[in-house]
Amino acid sequence: MAGSNRNGLNRRELGRLAAGAGLAGGALSSGVVRAAGAAGSMTRPFPDKFLWGCATASYQIEGGVHEGGRGPTIWDVFSHTPGKVANGDTGDVACDSYHRYPQDVALLKALGVSSYRMSIAWSRIFPDGRGKPNAAGLDYYKRVIDALHAAGIEPYVTLFHWDLPSRLPGEWQNRDTAYAYADYAGYTARALGDRVRHYMTVNELRCFTDLSHLQGIHAPGLKLGAKAVNQVRHHGVLAHGLGVQALRANAPSGTQVGIADNTVIYVPVMETPEHIAAARAATRAENAMFLTAIMEGRYLDSYLAGAGADAPVVKPGDMAAIGSKLDFLALNVYAPEWARASDNAKGYETIGHLPQSPHMASPWLYVGPEVAYWAVRHASELWHPSTIYISENGSSADDQMINGRVDDVDRVMYLRNYLGQFHRAIDDGFPLKGYFLWSLMDNFEWADGYTKRFGIHYTDFATQQRIPKLSAKWYSEVIRRNALV
Ligand code: FCB
Repeated sequence: MAGSNRNGLNRRELGRLAAGAGLAGGALSSGVVRAAGAAGSMTRPFPDKFLWGCATASYQIEGGVHEGGRGPTIWDVFSHTPGKVANGDTGDVACDSYHRYPQDVALLKALGVSSYRMSIAWSRIFPDGRGKPNAAGLDYYKRVIDALHAAGIEPYVTLFHWDLPSRLPGEWQNRDTAYAYADYAGYTARALGDRVRHYMTVNELRCFTDLSHLQGIHAPGLKLGAKAVNQVRHHGVLAHGLGVQALRANAPSGTQVGIADNTVIYVPVMETPEHIAAARAATRAENAMFLTAIMEGRYLDSYLAGAGADAPVVKPGDMAAIGSKLDFLALNVYAPEWARASDNAKGYETIGHLPQSPHMASPWLYVGPEVAYWAVRHASELWHPSTIYISENGSSADDQMINGRVDDVDRVMYLRNYLGQFHRAIDDGFPLKGYFLWSLMDNFEWADGYTKRFGIHYTDFATQQRIPKLSAKWYSEVIRRNALV
């Protein structure tokens, strides 16, 4: 269950072009590293004011699920259903950040980050999902945010990172959920108006729609048919759009609004004009029901034609809301897909992962640093956002504590190579303004429970101690120099 592709795609079109894997492995093992290492003094500086941050999410770190009036979520239900999460793990305690957030803020401060991407649990603010707000929930986030400000760290707040209040009938199958989300977003923006200047509406459309309602490996664990799934997807982008409108109406002017999406990014099989054009076209078309709809305010004809009778029901005004202008685009970047030029009607063919494609500890986390460059470049060339952030990038590793240390050289290798490709995008003039590393510390990794560690701090779940790994020291050095180390 835990091993499928987190981009929500099944493996496909294997075969041909082993070069796809070769590209990833080659850059990883030699070129980039040698260039930086050999010259010693050779630095790759990031622009002034480049934003360095870390990311987490409420259900993955908070615990305290019965405290402060929090209502239940679909992840509480799912994780308590036998067989759904590895080892029967739940987020009941997680990193206990509900109580230990001052410790987390201290970690962030020690790293030297200027920003922190955190999420608010909707069900702490509205325990029933809508209706009566819960002051204690709001107070908790005020305390966290005040602690961040006191440490000189700017919060970037995600309003929905999958922990949907379970008392909302019909979850994302119900169009009303999108309206409930907008009410929650507007209320929260008003209540935190003096504290928060940056919001991300939702996290990873493809995950909370497809993984949850098509593949059934995330809460609520449904395997619906195409028509229902397309409707769920539509409700997801609609929630985002109505959320943008609610934020604009309720947050102080100057508040910056964006989305954190895991758009599937196609890397050209080689960097020649025809393959580059094919990869860009694939990125636009294969994300038609998600980011493309949001950035263009319409569903592509090719998507609607392909969906046929299974196309979603769209009401007047929906597409205008969905296409609401954003202040920034944020992308979660992990595993690549590949595309090549073709003389078929679409002009491209996509290539999934090869059986031998290298991956990090999570089976879905195929390695391909070039995806970092192409994420920024394709998004820029397709939609011209004025600001792009990387809202997540990071790696799982089978971290071992040896003599009191975790020397996670594998994670450092991964991060260095991906950051090298983000740097390349900046060098080419694309507007990448910041980077949030996933994650501050090991936490509840959804269906993988606590078996997959993504942190740059090692969480000892028995004692709740957080111990900096080598990668934390490396990242703080990157931040201190504002350059790739
Ligand atoms: C992303 C999720 C995040 C975390 C990382 C590893 O898909 O947004 O919560 O699980 O993957």
